[in-house]
Amino acid sequence: MVNSIFIGMQWGDEGKGKHIDAAARGHKLVARYQGGANAGHSVNIVPPEVLASGDEKEINDKKYKFALHLIPSGILSPGVMNVIGNNVVAYPPSFLKEVDGLRARGVEVSPQNLAVSDRAHLTLLYHQVLDSIEGGGVGTTNRGIGPTYADKARRTTAIRMCDLFDLKSLEEKVREGTKYANHLISYYDPSGKSAVPFEKVWGELLQARERMLPFIHKDIAGLILENNGSLLFESAQGTMLDVDNGTFPFVTSSNPTRGGAYTGTGVWIDFQEVYGILKAYTTRVGNGPLPTEQVNEAGERLRKRGGEFGTTTGRPRRCAWQDLCVADYAIKVNGINGICLTKLDVLDEELTIPVCIGYNIDGKRVDYFPVTELHKVEPVYIQMRGWMKDISRARKPSDLPREAREYISFIERTLKTPIKEVGVGQRRDQIVYFS
Ligand code: IMP
Repeated sequence: MVNSIFIGMQWGDEGKGKHIDAAARGHKLVARYQGGANAGHSVNIVPPEVLASGDEKEINDKKYKFALHLIPSGILSPGVMNVIGNNVVAYPPSFLKEVDGLRARGVEVSPQNLAVSDRAHLTLLYHQVLDSIEGGGVGTTNRGIGPTYADKARRTTAIRMCDLFDLKSLEEKVREGTKYANHLISYYDPSGKSAVPFEKVWGELLQARERMLPFIHKDIAGLILENNGSLLFESAQGTMLDVDNGTFPFVTSSNPTRGGAYTGTGVWIDFQEVYGILKAYTTRVGNGPLPTEQVNEAGERLRKRGGEFGTTTGRPRRCAWQDLCVADYAIKVNGINGICLTKLDVLDEELTIPVCIGYNIDGKRVDYFPVTELHKVEPVYIQMRGWMKDISRARKPSDLPREAREYISFIERTLKTPIKEVGVGQRRDQIVYFS
């Protein structure tokens, strides 16, 4: 029994959901510690008998695909407790929509397997409106994430889950929050057309409140510690989107990195397994630097083969080659001791695979991970030989072509960190484990 944490090493969308889901069954409690419904974890679960039938059409049917946004990936594993930590932000209507959507598909979701911290903050309608007005420069998901965290940091108009218990003071808080948000909204749109009426915000919250209450837990730290030794913490987004350690200001407003796991749940625990999730290439959505970006045919190929469109917003993702400078930085920031390399099969048809192993700035190699200069680095690549074979049926390392194993061991050697799992397809069973 171990405590594990899974952290995205790039700009999110590394394919965390599948690997976390596969690991969740071996743990008693899964916790989300930051972010909100801006995340999108895709999990594809095909029953063993359907897999055994070999019927490709049935195996790939969308009824086996789940997209989770706020609820931890452990919800798909019966018997696993799921926790939404204090540094997660939740918009009640989307939380309930996700609960209902899962229940409609036969997944059990109840206070017996899902608990929300009473310290978690609420996103309200006006946060979303504000985000859609001011988030354009960053290219946010428009889920109200930034404005909710801004309210939290400002402290005066923030609303938490615990506030839902006292209806009278809640109304006062929501009234004040709406007033302040409308003040900000009028800064961007003085016409008043974008203003959000209090009645709309309040009506929406009242409708959700009764159903939210049973999920709110008053001792999340106690609940987590009761399961110490069998915990799985999952990050949303990735290291490069961390508000403190990522490519600021083109980041999200929370800490997906390991430090965020402690503050975001309120407990100090030892993680024996610190998994970094690294896609075999790189993507990002939204604006900001992406040194190995390919705005060309290669980028198009990766987008098409990798299905690189946002789970939450449907936006096409920007595609790029593997960047080991980013990966190395993520290892330092998080103390990663094992890597899950995801979506390796997407590279099946690449004759040569460029891998970035360093950056030059003004013709000189840099030996640190740059901040503002990231916009102007020139990546230094080595070319790896591709395998030009379908690897989706590989289940053990020896099933992989020699070139694929070389790609894996090159990354391990360069990063001085073992690769423990390799994803070769979307489904739960398409993982090659390395001992
Ligand atoms: P926000 O989190 O909606 O404020 O968006 C801030 C930045 O993070 C934008 O560039 C988003 O595209 C990006 N982002 C937020 N959540 C995710 C995610 O789950 N995957 C990838 N990018 C994300």
